[in-house]
Amino acid sequence: MSKKLKVALIGGGQVAEKVHVAYYASRPELELVAVVDSQTERAKEFAERNGIARYYTDSEAMYQAEKPDLVSVCTPNKMHCEHVLQALHHGCHVMCEKPPAMTPDQAYQMWQASTQTQKVLAYDFHHRFADDARLLRGSVASGELGEVYVTNAKALRRCGVPGWGVFTDKTQQGGGPLIDIGIHMLDAAMFVLGFPQVYKVDAHMYQKIGTVKNNGQFGQWDPSRFTVEDALFATLEFTSGSILRLETSFALNIQPQSVMNVEFCGDRAGATLFPAHIYTDDGGQLLTLYQREKADDLRHHKSMEAFVERVLGNPANIADGEQGYIIQKLVDAIYQAAEQRKSIYL
Ligand SMILES: NC(=O)c1ccc[n+]([C@@H]2O[C@H](COP(=O)([O-])OP(=O)(O)OC[C@H]3O[C@@H](n4cnc5c(N)ncnc54)[C@H](O)[C@@H]3O)[C@@H](O)[C@H]2O)c1
Repeated sequence: MSKKLKVALIGGGQVAEKVHVAYYASRPELELVAVVDSQTERAKEFAERNGIARYYTDSEAMYQAEKPDLVSVCTPNKMHCEHVLQALHHGCHVMCEKPPAMTPDQAYQMWQASTQTQKVLAYDFHHRFADDARLLRGSVASGELGEVYVTNAKALRRCGVPGWGVFTDKTQQGGGPLIDIGIHMLDAAMFVLGFPQVYKVDAHMYQKIGTVKNNGQFGQWDPSRFTVEDALFATLEFTSGSILRLETSFALNIQPQSVMNVEFCGDRAGATLFPAHIYTDDGGQLLTLYQREKADDLRHHKSMEAFVERVLGNPANIADGEQGYIIQKLVDAIYQAAEQRKSIYL
């Protein structure tokens, strides 16, 4: 067997362990050689728990010593741009956790750097890798739904402010539920729709619960340091006149307690993303055209797989630098519309 490709992780937190380590360990062509974390104890314990030979607190030292071929960037959002550019400039292929970055300008630099270095840059927008999303993408592209003129995307939690990491700190994350979970359903919706051109964005955001309560189903947080929105509602208008509505929250008094889904309303048929379901009617009779029993829960695995296959030179669709830039621009426009309380035209 040819020499194994070396993999390093930047950021030894929960997503690195649950998703990235788990996937890389399943590939015989790869060898996980090092983890970098700015906190020594975290790096050390992460390496020990996961059988990784070496740990570092300084990423530059890691690159000099290990010379990895692939890198996963799993640090807080604020660090994504710096860590991705560093990895690309060291000649590595990169899988970066979502969101791509904090600003469109950073996401643009990351995209350009991957083009210039000719290295793979993939973002872990894993929901679009579910078979459900691919199937609906096919239905929209073939015209099965007709003109999809309303899309409703929801990433809602009733009582789910993250109690770990820096998810309530705007300076580290760039925002709250929109940039953390809403972005997933925004990406999945845009993927199914085929990335149509957005013309105008309107949005409202609220901070009503995170600054008052201090614990919930995802742990405890400090309300005096809660600096992100806890709920946000946006409408994106495409150049065609169709709209995409996005609702997202860490905390919002809703029923049921959480939703991660998208609904596509076409003039011939409608569809729900998870599990994929296509429906219409005929003379008043309600018809199901297609229904999966269960949503594909291997989507994270498939997102990682697409990245690795692309690195190995095999054909695979990834969430690439350009699409990461487009999604980051939309997130930015949504925050601008909400902050300035006016329509943002793209
Ligand atoms: N795709 C998904 O569904 C998904 C799920 C969870 C998290 N994420 C993303 O992954 C990223 C990390 O989230 P998490 O939940 O694992 O957070 P976490 O807090 O568990 O882990 C982050 C780790 O990065 C380390 N770190 C911070 N600054 C660093 C630096 N400068 N250099 C090296 N290490 C540094 C921290 O010490 C910590 O161990 C975030 O961007 C988040 O949005 C994506």
